[in-house]
Amino acid sequence: MTSLVSFPVFDRQGRFSPLKAAFLLAVTLPGLWIGWRLATGGMGAKPITAALHETGLWSVRLLLVTLLVTPLRALTGQNRLLQVRRMLGVSALAYALIHLGLYVFDLKFDLVKVASEIILRFYLTIGFAALMAMAVLGATSFDSSIRKLGAENWNRLHSLVYPLALLTLWHGALQSKIDASEHIVMTGLFLALLGTRFLRRLGRLTPLWLLGLALVTALATSLVEYGWYALATGLPAGRIFAANLMLELVPRPAHIAGMLALALPLVALAAPWFSSAPKPGYSGTRQRGVTG
Ligand code: HEM
Repeated sequence: MTSLVSFPVFDRQGRFSPLKAAFLLAVTLPGLWIGWRLATGGMGAKPITAALHETGLWSVRLLLVTLLVTPLRALTGQNRLLQVRRMLGVSALAYALIHLGLYVFDLKFDLVKVASEIILRFYLTIGFAALMAMAVLGATSFDSSIRKLGAENWNRLHSLVYPLALLTLWHGALQSKIDASEHIVMTGLFLALLGTRFLRRLGRLTPLWLLGLALVTALATSLVEYGWYALATGLPAGRIFAANLMLELVPRPAHIAGMLALALPLVALAAPWFSSAPKPGYSGTRQRGVTG
């Protein structure tokens, strides 16, 4: 039974879980697609660099999806979602490890060079710090760790996921050269996730407040974009900011982040109809998993 339970498609009772199986397939597919294109020459002129970028992006995306689980569960009352949170967190770690592996491969396994690059290049230093933090969270994501550390300490340790997500966003954005659009969208969504956490603490996880949060997300994303281009590039940040108001340039990162954040009030509105969820505004017992 123990071996069945530890396999990621079975639940704690050792029963096959279609939800976990679907998520396992979903998190594996991008890796298979990257592997397939690497093997068949479909990855462009610099295949390892391209794979390095894609695995990095998938790691951050999965980290954000992991952080989405807690607010979704709070909105819908679907405790089943907790079954997949650990899998999502661990798969974000797996993509980050493959990402590092590709970097080591790219430097022809010269580990001294890898170490010196990590020490000397700031963007690599923060990537490494984030990876170490992810590894600690991954290694303590088992029930036995919760028992050993105690719920309080474990929760405190796992709230590290927020600063670590910020580090990964920063590391990725520093590498995105001129077009940082996806990183800016992801940073906006990260802020939206922090916003749901805040609203939950206030007991205000309602459709109306979440609608407000979607608007704030769009605004915050446009400010992140402005700040990024003003501080990190020599591009005219003011004109880029003004572009958010030009219909012919839709969709810009702020619009995309705002639209995606709009899914939250819609889920909150729909929750009472498709589940035995607590009424909107729920801010009940907190039960946490791999990530806060
Ligand atoms: C020791 C740890 C790490 C190393 C050595 C490393 C190395 C790199 C390198 C070499 C690049 C591309 C540089 C270029 O093309 O010029 C990169 C980009 C990137 N990395 Fe990392 N990384 C590390 C950790 C992480 C972690 C933990 C994450 C995410 C969880 C991550 C996400 C990304 C992302 C999103 C990009 C940019 C992709 C893009 O915009 O196309 N990295 N990293």
